[in-house]
Amino acid sequence: MTASPPPGSLQGQRLLLCVGGGIAAYKALELVRRLRDAGAVVQVAMTEGAQQFVTPLSFQALSGQPVRTSLWDSAAEAAMGHIELARWADRILVAPATADLLARLSHGFANDLVTTLCLATTAPITVAPAMNHRMWLHPATQANIATLRERGVQIIGPEDGPLAEGESGPGRLSEPEQIVAALGSAAAVPPTHAGELAGLKVVVSAGPTYEDLDPVRYLGNRSSGKMGFAVAASAARRGAEVVLVAGPVQLPTPSGVKRIDVRSAAQMREAVFGAFPADIYIGAAAVADYSPRVSVQNKIKKTGETLTLDLVRTPDILAEVAAQTQGLKLVVGFAAETENVAHYARGKLQAKRLDMIVANQVGIAGGGFESDQNAMTAYWNGGERDFSTAPKTQLADALMDLIVERMNA
Ligand code: PMT
Repeated sequence: MTASPPPGSLQGQRLLLCVGGGIAAYKALELVRRLRDAGAVVQVAMTEGAQQFVTPLSFQALSGQPVRTSLWDSAAEAAMGHIELARWADRILVAPATADLLARLSHGFANDLVTTLCLATTAPITVAPAMNHRMWLHPATQANIATLRERGVQIIGPEDGPLAEGESGPGRLSEPEQIVAALGSAAAVPPTHAGELAGLKVVVSAGPTYEDLDPVRYLGNRSSGKMGFAVAASAARRGAEVVLVAGPVQLPTPSGVKRIDVRSAAQMREAVFGAFPADIYIGAAAVADYSPRVSVQNKIKKTGETLTLDLVRTPDILAEVAAQTQGLKLVVGFAAETENVAHYARGKLQAKRLDMIVANQVGIAGGGFESDQNAMTAYWNGGERDFSTAPKTQLADALMDLIVERMNA
Protein backbone atom coordinates (compact mmCIF):
# COMPACT_ATOMS: atom_id res chain seq x y z
CA MET A 1 0.00 0.00 0.00
CA THR A 2 1.42 3.44 -0.87
CA ALA A 3 1.05 6.30 1.58
CA SER A 4 -0.70 9.38 0.17
CA PRO A 5 1.36 12.62 0.19
CA PRO A 6 0.80 14.94 3.14
CA PRO A 7 -1.61 17.83 2.42
CA GLY A 8 0.27 20.80 0.98
CA SER A 9 3.29 18.78 -0.18
CA LEU A 10 4.39 18.88 -3.82
CA GLN A 11 4.99 15.13 -3.88
CA GLY A 12 4.68 13.87 -7.46
CA GLN A 13 3.55 17.25 -8.88
CA ARG A 14 4.75 17.89 -12.41
CA LEU A 15 5.94 21.45 -12.25
CA LEU A 16 6.96 23.50 -15.27
CA LEU A 17 9.22 26.34 -14.13
CA CYS A 18 9.32 29.21 -16.63
CA VAL A 19 12.29 31.47 -15.93
CA GLY A 20 12.05 35.14 -16.95
CA GLY A 21 14.91 37.49 -17.84
CA GLY A 22 15.79 39.35 -14.68
CA ILE A 23 18.77 39.44 -12.35
CA ALA A 24 16.73 37.31 -9.89
CA ALA A 25 16.96 34.42 -12.42
CA TYR A 26 19.96 33.16 -10.43
CA LYS A 27 17.59 32.47 -7.49
CA ALA A 28 15.57 30.16 -9.76
CA LEU A 29 18.48 27.70 -9.60
CA GLU A 30 18.02 27.31 -5.85
CA LEU A 31 14.26 27.18 -6.45
CA VAL A 32 14.65 24.09 -8.66
CA ARG A 33 16.55 22.34 -5.87
CA ARG A 34 13.91 23.26 -3.27
CA LEU A 35 11.03 22.21 -5.53
CA ARG A 36 12.65 18.83 -6.09
CA ASP A 37 13.29 18.48 -2.33
CA ALA A 38 9.54 19.07 -1.82
CA GLY A 39 8.84 16.14 -4.15
CA ALA A 40 8.04 17.92 -7.42
CA VAL A 41 9.20 16.72 -10.83
CA VAL A 42 10.58 19.87 -12.44
CA GLN A 43 11.04 20.82 -16.09
CA VAL A 44 12.43 24.22 -16.99
CA ALA A 45 11.65 26.59 -19.87
CA MET A 46 13.58 29.85 -20.25
CA THR A 47 12.91 33.14 -22.03
CA GLU A 48 15.69 34.56 -24.20
CA GLY A 49 16.31 37.19 -21.53
CA ALA A 50 16.70 34.56 -18.82
CA GLN A 51 19.51 32.95 -20.84
CA GLN A 52 21.46 36.22 -20.58
CA PHE A 53 21.60 35.74 -16.80
CA VAL A 54 21.87 31.95 -16.27
CA THR A 55 22.78 29.12 -18.64
CA PRO A 56 20.30 26.39 -19.60
CA LEU A 57 23.02 23.89 -18.65
CA SER A 58 22.82 24.92 -14.98
CA PHE A 59 19.06 24.29 -14.95
CA GLN A 60 19.55 21.00 -16.78
CA ALA A 61 22.04 19.83 -14.15
CA LEU A 62 19.74 20.79 -11.26
CA SER A 63 16.44 19.57 -12.72
CA GLY A 64 17.86 16.41 -14.27
CA GLN A 65 15.73 17.18 -17.37
CA PRO A 66 16.43 18.79 -20.75
CA VAL A 67 15.74 22.53 -20.68
CA ARG A 68 13.50 24.20 -23.28
CA THR A 69 14.71 27.56 -24.61
CA SER A 70 12.93 28.19 -27.91
CA LEU A 71 9.71 27.55 -29.79
CA TRP A 72 11.75 26.94 -32.91
CA ASP A 73 13.99 24.11 -31.69
CA SER A 74 13.06 21.23 -34.01
CA ALA A 75 14.98 18.60 -32.00
CA ALA A 76 13.22 19.58 -28.76
CA GLU A 77 9.85 19.79 -30.52
CA ALA A 78 10.39 16.29 -31.86
CA ALA A 79 10.99 14.99 -28.30
CA MET A 80 8.17 16.76 -26.42
CA GLY A 81 6.34 19.45 -28.40
CA HIS A 82 5.40 22.65 -26.57
CA ILE A 83 1.70 21.76 -26.56
CA GLU A 84 2.58 18.40 -25.01
CA LEU A 85 4.76 20.16 -22.43
CA ALA A 86 1.89 22.55 -21.58
CA ARG A 87 -0.34 19.48 -21.09
CA TRP A 88 2.33 17.64 -19.09
CA ALA A 89 2.40 20.27 -16.32
CA ASP A 90 0.21 19.98 -13.22
CA ARG A 91 1.18 23.60 -12.50
CA ILE A 92 3.22 26.31 -14.24
CA LEU A 93 5.40 28.55 -12.09
CA VAL A 94 6.80 31.71 -13.67
CA ALA A 95 9.78 32.90 -11.59
CA PRO A 96 11.13 35.48 -11.80
CA ALA A 97 8.20 37.09 -13.62
CA THR A 98 9.48 40.37 -15.07
CA ALA A 99 7.26 43.41 -15.79
CA ASP A 100 7.47 42.59 -19.51
CA LEU A 101 6.52 38.96 -18.99
CA LEU A 102 3.56 39.91 -16.76
CA ALA A 103 2.36 42.36 -19.43
CA ARG A 104 2.59 39.73 -22.15
CA LEU A 105 0.86 37.10 -19.98
CA SER A 106 -1.97 39.45 -19.02
CA HIS A 107 -2.57 40.34 -22.69
CA GLY A 108 -2.46 36.74 -23.90
CA PHE A 109 0.66 37.05 -26.07
CA ALA A 110 2.19 33.91 -27.56
CA ASN A 111 5.34 35.43 -29.04
CA ASP A 112 7.88 33.15 -27.39
CA LEU A 113 8.07 29.72 -25.77
CA VAL A 114 7.12 30.79 -22.22
CA THR A 115 4.06 32.88 -23.14
CA THR A 116 2.92 30.18 -25.59
CA LEU A 117 3.17 27.51 -22.87
CA CYS A 118 1.16 29.69 -20.47
CA LEU A 119 -1.52 30.26 -23.09
CA ALA A 120 -1.69 26.62 -24.15
CA THR A 121 -2.00 25.13 -20.66
CA THR A 122 -5.11 24.34 -18.64
CA ALA A 123 -2.98 23.89 -15.50
CA PRO A 124 -3.08 26.53 -12.75
CA ILE A 125 -0.43 29.24 -13.12
CA THR A 126 1.61 30.87 -10.36
CA VAL A 127 3.77 33.94 -10.91
CA ALA A 128 6.50 35.25 -8.62
CA PRO A 129 7.25 38.80 -9.80
CA ALA A 130 10.66 40.48 -9.46
CA MET A 131 11.62 43.88 -10.83
CA ASN A 132 12.61 47.43 -9.96
CA HIS A 133 10.15 48.84 -7.38
CA ARG A 134 9.03 51.71 -9.63
CA MET A 135 8.22 49.23 -12.40
CA TRP A 136 6.26 47.12 -9.88
CA LEU A 137 4.30 50.13 -8.58
CA HIS A 138 3.60 51.50 -12.08
CA PRO A 139 -0.18 51.53 -12.77
CA ALA A 140 0.41 49.46 -15.94
CA THR A 141 2.06 46.62 -13.97
CA GLN A 142 -0.55 46.84 -11.23
CA ALA A 143 -3.32 46.61 -13.85
CA ASN A 144 -1.63 43.56 -15.39
CA ILE A 145 -1.36 41.92 -11.96
CA ALA A 146 -5.04 42.68 -11.25
CA THR A 147 -6.01 41.06 -14.58
CA LEU A 148 -3.95 37.95 -13.86
CA ARG A 149 -5.33 37.69 -10.30
CA GLU A 150 -8.87 38.03 -11.64
CA ARG A 151 -8.14 35.04 -13.91
CA GLY A 152 -7.19 32.97 -10.88
CA VAL A 153 -3.40 33.23 -11.29
CA GLN A 154 -1.64 32.82 -7.93
CA ILE A 155 0.71 35.74 -7.20
CA ILE A 156 3.64 35.16 -4.82
CA GLY A 157 5.40 38.32 -3.61
CA PRO A 158 7.25 40.45 -4.49
CA GLU A 159 8.95 41.24 -1.19
CA ASP A 160 9.96 44.61 0.13
CA GLY A 161 13.70 45.18 0.59
CA PRO A 162 17.02 46.06 -1.06
CA LEU A 163 17.01 45.68 -4.85
CA ALA A 164 19.82 44.91 -7.29
CA GLU A 165 20.22 48.55 -8.39
CA GLY A 166 21.04 49.66 -4.83
CA GLU A 167 17.52 51.02 -4.21
CA SER A 168 14.95 49.61 -1.84
CA GLY A 169 11.23 48.87 -2.18
CA PRO A 170 8.73 46.19 -3.24
CA GLY A 171 10.25 44.16 -6.09
CA ARG A 172 12.45 41.43 -4.64
CA LEU A 173 11.72 37.87 -5.75
CA SER A 174 10.33 35.91 -2.78
CA GLU A 175 12.83 33.51 -1.28
CA PRO A 176 12.76 29.99 -2.79
CA GLU A 177 11.47 28.47 0.49
CA GLN A 178 8.60 31.03 0.59
CA ILE A 179 7.67 30.16 -3.00
CA VAL A 180 7.72 26.43 -2.26
CA ALA A 181 5.60 26.95 0.90
CA ALA A 182 3.06 29.06 -1.02
CA LEU A 183 2.84 26.43 -3.79
CA GLY A 184 2.35 23.78 -1.11
CA SER A 185 -0.58 25.64 0.41
CA ALA A 186 -2.08 26.23 -3.03
CA ALA A 187 -1.81 22.48 -3.61
CA ALA A 188 -3.67 21.99 -0.31
CA VAL A 189 -6.74 23.80 -1.64
CA PRO A 190 -8.80 21.19 -3.47
CA PRO A 191 -9.01 22.00 -7.19
CA THR A 192 -12.78 22.48 -6.75
CA HIS A 193 -12.10 25.52 -4.51
CA ALA A 194 -9.09 27.03 -6.28
CA GLY A 195 -10.05 30.25 -8.08
CA GLU A 196 -13.60 30.30 -6.66
CA LEU A 197 -13.07 33.84 -5.30
CA ALA A 198 -11.30 35.11 -8.44
CA GLY A 199 -12.44 38.63 -9.28
CA LEU A 200 -13.62 39.33 -5.72
CA LYS A 201 -12.01 41.60 -3.14
CA VAL A 202 -11.86 40.46 0.48
CA VAL A 203 -10.87 42.76 3.36
CA VAL A 204 -9.79 41.00 6.56
CA SER A 205 -8.90 42.59 9.89
CA ALA A 206 -6.59 40.70 12.25
CA GLY A 207 -4.66 41.01 15.48
CA PRO A 208 -5.10 43.37 18.40
CA THR A 209 -5.16 47.15 18.51
CA TYR A 210 -2.95 49.14 20.87
CA GLU A 211 -4.42 52.28 22.41
CA ASP A 212 -1.60 54.53 23.61
CA LEU A 213 -1.78 56.06 27.07
CA ASP A 214 1.55 57.85 26.82
CA PRO A 215 4.80 57.30 24.85
CA VAL A 216 5.63 54.13 26.82
CA ARG A 217 2.31 52.48 27.75
CA TYR A 218 -0.73 51.24 25.91
CA LEU A 219 -3.95 49.26 26.39
CA GLY A 220 -3.89 46.09 24.29
CA ASN A 221 -5.07 42.48 24.23
CA ARG A 222 -3.73 38.98 23.65
CA SER A 223 -4.68 38.53 19.98
CA SER A 224 -1.74 37.14 17.98
CA GLY A 225 -3.34 37.66 14.56
CA LYS A 226 -3.00 33.93 13.71
CA MET A 227 -6.72 33.42 13.02
CA GLY A 228 -7.12 36.49 10.81
CA PHE A 229 -3.88 35.82 8.90
CA ALA A 230 -5.01 32.24 8.21
CA VAL A 231 -8.37 33.51 6.91
CA ALA A 232 -6.61 36.04 4.65
CA ALA A 233 -4.28 33.32 3.31
CA SER A 234 -7.21 31.01 2.58
CA ALA A 235 -9.08 33.74 0.67
CA ALA A 236 -5.94 34.52 -1.38
CA ARG A 237 -5.44 30.84 -2.25
CA ARG A 238 -8.95 30.87 -3.72
CA GLY A 239 -7.98 33.69 -6.07
CA ALA A 240 -9.41 36.70 -4.18
CA GLU A 241 -7.68 40.04 -4.05
CA VAL A 242 -7.07 40.26 -0.30
CA VAL A 243 -6.32 43.30 1.84
CA LEU A 244 -5.25 42.36 5.36
CA VAL A 245 -5.47 45.17 7.90
CA ALA A 246 -3.21 44.00 10.70
CA GLY A 247 -2.79 45.30 14.21
CA PRO A 248 0.67 45.05 15.83
CA VAL A 249 1.67 41.39 15.33
CA GLN A 250 4.85 39.56 14.39
CA LEU A 251 3.61 37.31 11.59
CA PRO A 252 4.82 36.95 8.00
CA THR A 253 2.47 38.32 5.35
CA PRO A 254 0.60 35.48 3.62
CA SER A 255 1.43 35.01 -0.02
CA GLY A 256 -0.57 37.13 -2.46
CA VAL A 257 -2.01 39.31 0.31
CA LYS A 258 -1.71 43.11 0.53
CA ARG A 259 -1.00 43.96 4.15
CA ILE A 260 -1.64 47.29 5.85
CA ASP A 261 -0.14 47.59 9.34
CA VAL A 262 -1.98 49.72 11.88
CA ARG A 263 -1.78 50.28 15.64
CA SER A 264 -4.97 51.77 17.05
CA ALA A 265 -8.68 51.15 16.53
CA ALA A 266 -8.98 54.55 14.83
CA GLN A 267 -6.16 53.65 12.39
CA MET A 268 -7.74 50.25 11.75
CA ARG A 269 -11.06 51.91 10.89
CA GLU A 270 -9.34 54.28 8.46
CA ALA A 271 -7.41 51.45 6.76
CA VAL A 272 -10.50 49.21 6.48
CA PHE A 273 -12.62 51.94 4.89
CA GLY A 274 -9.64 52.98 2.74
CA ALA A 275 -9.56 49.44 1.31
CA PHE A 276 -13.21 49.56 0.21
CA PRO A 277 -15.06 48.97 -2.08
CA ALA A 278 -14.88 45.24 -1.40
CA ASP A 279 -17.10 42.19 -1.78
CA ILE A 280 -16.48 40.50 1.59
CA TYR A 281 -15.42 41.91 4.98
CA ILE A 282 -14.19 39.55 7.70
CA GLY A 283 -13.53 41.18 11.09
CA ALA A 284 -11.21 38.80 12.94
CA ALA A 285 -9.35 41.57 14.79
CA ALA A 286 -9.73 42.03 18.52
CA VAL A 287 -10.42 45.75 18.34
CA ALA A 288 -10.21 47.68 21.62
CA ASP A 289 -13.64 48.80 22.79
CA TYR A 290 -12.22 51.76 24.69
CA SER A 291 -9.32 54.11 24.14
CA PRO A 292 -7.83 56.82 26.38
CA ARG A 293 -9.63 60.16 25.88
CA VAL A 294 -6.17 61.72 25.45
CA SER A 295 -2.79 60.14 24.80
CA VAL A 296 -0.39 62.40 26.70
CA GLN A 297 2.94 63.45 25.19
CA ASN A 298 5.12 62.68 28.21
CA LYS A 299 5.31 59.62 30.44
CA ILE A 300 2.56 59.62 33.11
CA LYS A 301 4.33 60.04 36.48
CA LYS A 302 3.63 57.92 39.52
CA THR A 303 1.80 60.26 41.93
CA GLY A 304 -1.13 58.88 43.98
CA GLU A 305 -1.92 55.33 45.22
CA THR A 306 -4.51 54.88 42.48
CA LEU A 307 -4.80 56.08 38.90
CA THR A 308 -8.10 56.56 37.10
CA LEU A 309 -8.05 56.37 33.32
CA ASP A 310 -10.57 58.36 31.31
CA LEU A 311 -11.57 56.09 28.41
CA VAL A 312 -13.92 56.68 25.50
CA ARG A 313 -15.62 54.18 23.17
CA THR A 314 -13.78 53.38 19.95
CA PRO A 315 -15.65 53.29 16.64
CA ASP A 316 -17.31 49.91 16.08
CA ILE A 317 -15.70 49.16 12.71
CA LEU A 318 -17.69 45.99 12.06
CA ALA A 319 -21.07 47.61 12.80
CA GLU A 320 -20.17 50.57 10.58
CA VAL A 321 -19.12 48.27 7.74
CA ALA A 322 -22.35 46.29 8.02
CA ALA A 323 -24.40 49.51 8.01
CA GLN A 324 -22.92 50.64 4.67
CA THR A 325 -24.16 48.02 2.25
CA GLN A 326 -22.44 49.54 -0.82
CA GLY A 327 -21.37 46.57 -2.93
CA LEU A 328 -20.71 44.22 0.00
CA LYS A 329 -21.90 40.68 -0.54
CA LEU A 330 -21.10 39.35 2.95
CA VAL A 331 -20.05 40.84 6.30
CA VAL A 332 -18.63 38.36 8.81
CA GLY A 333 -17.71 39.17 12.41
CA PHE A 334 -15.99 37.18 15.14
CA ALA A 335 -17.14 37.08 18.76
CA ALA A 336 -14.60 36.40 21.49
CA GLU A 337 -16.41 35.41 24.67
CA THR A 338 -15.47 33.85 27.99
CA GLU A 339 -19.03 32.71 28.94
CA ASN A 340 -22.50 32.29 27.40
CA VAL A 341 -20.70 32.17 24.06
CA ALA A 342 -23.69 31.30 21.85
CA HIS A 343 -26.01 33.79 23.54
CA TYR A 344 -23.63 36.76 23.24
CA ALA A 345 -22.60 35.83 19.71
CA ARG A 346 -26.20 35.67 18.50
CA GLY A 347 -26.81 39.03 20.18
CA LYS A 348 -23.90 40.57 18.21
CA LEU A 349 -25.16 39.00 14.96
CA GLN A 350 -28.46 40.87 15.39
CA ALA A 351 -27.17 44.10 17.00
CA LYS A 352 -24.47 44.65 14.37
CA ARG A 353 -26.74 43.39 11.52
CA LEU A 354 -24.15 40.90 10.26
CA ASP A 355 -24.51 38.13 7.69
CA MET A 356 -22.54 35.76 9.92
CA ILE A 357 -20.72 35.70 13.24
CA VAL A 358 -18.04 33.22 14.26
CA ALA A 359 -17.99 32.61 18.00
CA ASN A 360 -15.02 31.32 19.90
CA GLN A 361 -14.26 30.93 23.57
CA VAL A 362 -11.29 32.93 24.82
CA GLY A 363 -9.46 32.83 28.13
CA ILE A 364 -8.99 29.05 27.89
CA ALA A 365 -5.89 26.96 27.27
CA GLY A 366 -5.55 25.36 23.82
CA GLY A 367 -7.85 27.76 21.96
CA GLY A 368 -8.92 31.38 21.45
CA PHE A 369 -6.11 33.94 21.68
CA GLU A 370 -2.48 33.09 20.81
CA SER A 371 -2.96 29.32 20.44
CA ASP A 372 -2.25 27.64 17.08
CA GLN A 373 -5.59 25.88 17.31
CA ASN A 374 -9.15 26.84 18.04
CA ALA A 375 -12.75 25.65 18.06
CA MET A 376 -15.62 27.81 16.88
CA THR A 377 -19.27 27.98 15.84
CA ALA A 378 -20.61 30.11 13.02
CA TYR A 379 -24.12 31.57 13.33
CA TRP A 380 -26.27 33.20 10.68
CA ASN A 381 -29.97 33.90 10.49
CA GLY A 382 -31.56 30.47 10.25
CA GLY A 383 -28.45 28.34 10.71
CA GLU A 384 -25.25 27.48 12.51
CA ARG A 385 -22.19 25.26 12.00
CA ASP A 386 -19.73 23.86 14.52
CA PHE A 387 -16.02 23.66 13.78
CA SER A 388 -14.37 21.37 16.30
CA THR A 389 -10.81 21.87 17.60
CA ALA A 390 -8.27 22.02 14.75
CA PRO A 391 -5.27 24.14 13.65
CA LYS A 392 -6.33 27.70 12.81
CA THR A 393 -5.08 27.22 9.23
CA GLN A 394 -7.51 24.31 8.77
CA LEU A 395 -10.38 26.17 10.45
CA ALA A 396 -9.77 29.14 8.17
CA ASP A 397 -10.17 26.89 5.11
CA ALA A 398 -13.37 25.34 6.52
CA LEU A 399 -14.70 28.81 7.35
CA MET A 400 -13.92 30.08 3.83
CA ASP A 401 -15.84 27.07 2.43
CA LEU A 402 -18.84 28.19 4.51
CA ILE A 403 -18.42 31.85 3.52
CA VAL A 404 -18.47 30.92 -0.19
CA GLU A 405 -21.50 28.67 0.46
CA ARG A 406 -23.42 31.46 2.29
CA MET A 407 -22.47 34.03 -0.34
CA ASN A 408 -23.93 31.85 -3.07
CA ALA A 409 -27.00 30.83 -1.01
O1 PMT B 1 -5.55 36.52 16.92
P1 PMT B 1 -5.56 35.14 17.54
O2 PMT B 1 -4.58 35.02 18.69
O3 PMT B 1 -5.42 34.05 16.53
O4 PMT B 1 -7.00 34.93 18.23
C1 PMT B 1 -8.14 34.89 17.42
C2 PMT B 1 -9.29 35.73 18.00
C3 PMT B 1 -9.73 35.11 19.29
C4 PMT B 1 -8.82 37.17 18.23
C5 PMT B 1 -10.43 35.75 16.94
O5 PMT B 1 -10.83 34.45 16.68
C6 PMT B 1 -11.62 36.60 17.43
O6 PMT B 1 -12.50 36.15 18.13
N1 PMT B 1 -11.67 37.89 17.00
C7 PMT B 1 -12.64 38.88 17.46
C8 PMT B 1 -12.24 39.39 18.81
C9 PMT B 1 -13.19 40.46 19.33
O7 PMT B 1 -12.81 41.61 19.40
O8 PMT B 1 -14.37 40.05 19.62
P2 PMT B 1 -15.57 41.02 20.13
O9 PMT B 1 -16.63 40.09 20.50
O10 PMT B 1 -15.05 41.97 21.15
O11 PMT B 1 -15.97 41.88 18.84
C10 PMT B 1 -16.98 41.43 17.95
C11 PMT B 1 -16.66 41.84 16.54
O12 PMT B 1 -16.69 43.26 16.44
C12 PMT B 1 -15.30 41.40 16.05
O13 PMT B 1 -15.45 41.00 14.70
C13 PMT B 1 -14.45 42.66 16.13
O14 PMT B 1 -13.46 42.69 15.11
C14 PMT B 1 -15.48 43.74 15.88
N2 PMT B 1 -15.21 45.04 16.54
C15 PMT B 1 -15.20 45.15 17.89
C16 PMT B 1 -15.00 46.37 18.49
C17 PMT B 1 -14.76 47.51 17.68
N3 PMT B 1 -14.54 48.68 18.19
N4 PMT B 1 -14.76 47.36 16.34
C18 PMT B 1 -14.98 46.15 15.76
O15 PMT B 1 -14.96 46.05 14.53
